[in-house]
Amino acid sequence: MVTTSQAKRTPASRSTVALKYSMAVSGLIMVGYLLMHMYGNLKVFAGQQAFDEYAHHLRTFGEPMLPYEGLLWIVRFVLLAAILVHIYCVVVLTVRNRKAAGYAGGKRYHSKKNRTGIQRSYASFTLRWGGVVIVTFIVYHLLHLTAQVTTPGGASDSPYQRVVNGFELPAVTIGYTVAILAVGFHLWHGIWSALTTLGANHSGNRIDSRLTGIAVVVTLVIVIGFLLPPWAILLGLEG
Ligand code: HEM
Repeated sequence: MVTTSQAKRTPASRSTVALKYSMAVSGLIMVGYLLMHMYGNLKVFAGQQAFDEYAHHLRTFGEPMLPYEGLLWIVRFVLLAAILVHIYCVVVLTVRNRKAAGYAGGKRYHSKKNRTGIQRSYASFTLRWGGVVIVTFIVYHLLHLTAQVTTPGGASDSPYQRVVNGFELPAVTIGYTVAILAVGFHLWHGIWSALTTLGANHSGNRIDSRLTGIAVVVTLVIVIGFLLPPWAILLGLEG
C-alpha cells in the first residue's frame, strides 16, 4: 500500500544529492571547455595566419566523417546542455534551501544583522551574482565574436582581425576583464565545491583542503590565460 508520505517523495533524479552531482559534473564540463578555449585564444600571439588557420581547423576537424562545423556543433550542444542543467539545478536547490532554512517574508532567521536580514556568505553572493554577470557576458560574447551582430572596432572576414579590432578599444577590454574576473571568482569556489560534492575532499576544513590549492591554480591559469590576449592587444604587445 502507498502511504501519503511515500507518494510525496522526491524522485531520486531530483534528490538534492542528484542535483548537486549534476551541478558539479556540468560545471566541470564547462571548466574543461574554458581551459581549451583559453589555450586556443593564446594563438593570437602566433600571429594572424596561425589564429585564422586554427579557427578554420575547428570547423573542418573530423571531415569527412563529420560534416563541416560538425565538431563545433557537438561542442555547442554539450555546452548548452551543461549550462541549462547547471542553471536548472541552482534554481531548484536555491528554492529548496530557502524553504529548509525557514525564510519568512523574504527574511532568513528573522535576523536584524544586516539591511535585508539575510545572512549571506561571500561565496554564495559571488556565485549567484557572478553567475548572472557571466550569463550576460556570454550573450554579448556570442553576439560579438560568433554571430557578429555587434562588431566593435569594425567587421572583418578574419577572426584574428575581429578580435584585434575589438580589444583595441579600452571599453571592450575592460568589459571583458570584468566578465573574466567574475568567471574567476565563480571558478575559485565552484571548482572546490564541485570536487567536494564528487567526494574528493578528505580534509576537515576548507583552508587545509588540498582542493583549495587545485581550485586556485586552475582558476589563476584560466583567468590569466584569458586576460593576456585582450590586454596585450590593447597595449600593442601582441606582436
Ligand atoms: C578574452 C577572452 C576571450 C576571447 C578572446 C574569446 C574569443 C572567442 C572567439 C574568437 C570566439 C569565436 C570562435 C569561432 O567562432 O571561431 C569565441 C566563442 C565563444 N566563446 Fe570566447 N573568448 C573569450 C572569453 C570567453 C569566456 C570567458 C567564455 C565563457 C565564460 C567564452 C565562451 C565562448 C563561447 C561559449 C563561444 C561560442 C563557441 C561557438 O562558436 O560555438 N569565451 N570566443
